[in-house]
Amino acid sequence: MPQPLIERFRPYLPVSESTPIVSLQEGSTPLIEVPKIAGRISPNVRVFVKFEGANPTGSFKDRGMTVAVSKAMEEGSKAVICASTGNTSASAAAYAARAGLRCFVLLPQGKVAAGKLAQTLMHGAEVIALEGNFDQAMSIVLDLAESYPITVVNSTNPFRTEGQKTAAFEIIEELGDAPDYHAIPVGNARNIVSYWRGYKEFHERGKATKLPKMVGFQAEGSAPLVLGHPIENPETVATAIRIGNPVSFDEAIAARDESGGLIRAVSDDQILAAQFLLATKEGIFVEPASAAPIAGLLVLGQDGFFSEPATITVTCTGHGLKDPDIAITQAKPPITVPADRSAVAAALGFSG
Ligand code: F0G
Repeated sequence: MPQPLIERFRPYLPVSESTPIVSLQEGSTPLIEVPKIAGRISPNVRVFVKFEGANPTGSFKDRGMTVAVSKAMEEGSKAVICASTGNTSASAAAYAARAGLRCFVLLPQGKVAAGKLAQTLMHGAEVIALEGNFDQAMSIVLDLAESYPITVVNSTNPFRTEGQKTAAFEIIEELGDAPDYHAIPVGNARNIVSYWRGYKEFHERGKATKLPKMVGFQAEGSAPLVLGHPIENPETVATAIRIGNPVSFDEAIAARDESGGLIRAVSDDQILAAQFLLATKEGIFVEPASAAPIAGLLVLGQDGFFSEPATITVTCTGHGLKDPDIAITQAKPPITVPADRSAVAAALGFSG
């Protein structure tokens, strides 16, 4: 059985013997080579997907949440709170349930994918649907936490970053070195910072000979980091990253620049096409936000960006089952036939 994330990387995490570990066996997710996607990017590249949908609640958030909730327990907290586009809330609700903490959640009403809402409710969180967007929910959460005894488990919580950086450790351990490029979706902009920290930490400890260039991708209608300023009304089909005023704006820019990378935007159509391609050609089903970096790499590849041999890793942050509605509207619908052998055979294209 794989070790819980905190046990696997204990020396690199801010925990002690007296920290009660709240775990759901997160981390140790698959790193899957995707040769068909790579072939469409450039003959020079090998591409590996870090499939974070394999975490217990189906997203990368569990890496940070195990540390944040364990530390909240150590500090004697009785309740956690977050604003969320859905994955943070699903993870917070699950870990809070396991720890016996209350969990308060503020969601942008009508903009959270069905799977994430189901998880958040099922784990018993106390959920407020805000008539507003994620950015407004985030600012209310930070405001409330100044007045009431609640632990914020958004990525403003420093323990989240510590947990999330472990994905970079796993990649280095698996590949034997850091990749040349690491592609990642960017929303509230903490995960790109967390990976960069993880890569730098293992590099400093001599576990990698190089550092990757961090290449981040936002959705065109929600691309404050690409525009260089916050935006008021973010929109995208990738609801996980429908964020106009990311809390880690400056640090994400720093990660981009220090690593010599870039942050670009991709359209909703490109995101959905990449999601479909990954599902149909590689057997990996991710949610739309997670397909943004695949879309971005395809665009870079078409522009001739990868002229040298390179290893690329891509974080696919959340499972496709999180957002079944998007999948069903874009995939080929089933063919309905009578319950009859020959009707089925005919529908399948078999004759006689
Ligand atoms: N991908 C998915 C599936 C996400 O849920 C998020 C963020 C991101 C990418 C972006 O990561 O914010 O660190 O840049 N989801 C948050 C949430 C905002 O509430 O679940 P980031």
